[in-house]
Amino acid sequence: MRLDWPVYHLGVIDSTNTEAQRRAKAGHIENCWLVAESQTAGRGRLQRPWLSSSGNLFSSAFFREPGGISIAARLPFATALAVSDMAAIIAPGAPVKLKWPNDARVNQAKLSGILIETGGQGQDFWVVAGIGINIAECPEGTSQATTCIHDLRGDTLISAEDALSVLRETFARRLEQARQSFEPLREDWLKVAEGLGETVRVTVSDSPVEGVFEDMAPDGALILRLPNGERQMIRAGDVSLIGRT
Ligand code: BTN
Repeated sequence: MRLDWPVYHLGVIDSTNTEAQRRAKAGHIENCWLVAESQTAGRGRLQRPWLSSSGNLFSSAFFREPGGISIAARLPFATALAVSDMAAIIAPGAPVKLKWPNDARVNQAKLSGILIETGGQGQDFWVVAGIGINIAECPEGTSQATTCIHDLRGDTLISAEDALSVLRETFARRLEQARQSFEPLREDWLKVAEGLGETVRVTVSDSPVEGVFEDMAPDGALILRLPNGERQMIRAGDVSLIGRT
C-alpha cells in the first residue's frame, strides 16, 4: 500500500513542521510530504532543537485527519512503528526499539525523533507528523548518543530520498491501522518497547518520578508502578532507563 501524496522538496528551510503550519494557517491544507535538505530551526519534542545538517531525512507528513484528535493521539505510536518498519527493510537485523512515546533507538542510541502537531477543527482538522531520521550522519553534541542508518547497514549507503520512499509506504500502512483501531498498534508497539518491565525515570514538567514501566494503557499512557505500589499514568514526559544512558 502506498499513499499517493505528493512530495515537496523545500531545500534549506527553518523546519518542515513550521512550514506545514504556515501552509495550514494560509488555508493550504493538502495531503503531502514536505522534505528539507537541511533545517535551520528544526524542532523536537519538549521545545528542544533538532540538529538538522544535510545527509539525514527531515520530513513532515501533512494531512487532513477526518478522525480528529482521537486518531491523532495514536499517531506518535503509529509513526514510530512506521520508522521501525522502515528500518527493518533498509537496515535489516538492526535491533530497533521504541522508547515511549515515539523515539526509535538502537542500543540506546537515537535513530529517529518524531514531532506530531495538530490544528484546525472539523473537516479542517490537520496533522503534521514530523519525522527526523539519521541516515548518513550521527549528530554530535546532543544530550544522548545517536546512531544512523549508514552505521546500521555497515556496507552500502542509502540516500535520504530512498529511505523516504520506503517510509512513505510504511507510514501509509500504519496510518491506515491507526484509523481502524488502537489495540493492534498498541500490541505491535509493546513488542518493540524499550525498557518494558524495567525501572525507568520519567521527567514530567522538570519533576522526575521513578518506577517500573509496567504497560501501555489503551489510550497510550505509560503505566508506571511506583515504589509504594501505586500505579501512575504518564501522558507526557521524557523517559530514561535507570542504569542506562
Ligand atoms: C524529537 O525527538 O524531539 C522529535 C524530533 C523531530 C524532528 C523532525 S525533523 C522534521 C520535522 N521538522 C522539525 O522541525 N521537526 C521534525
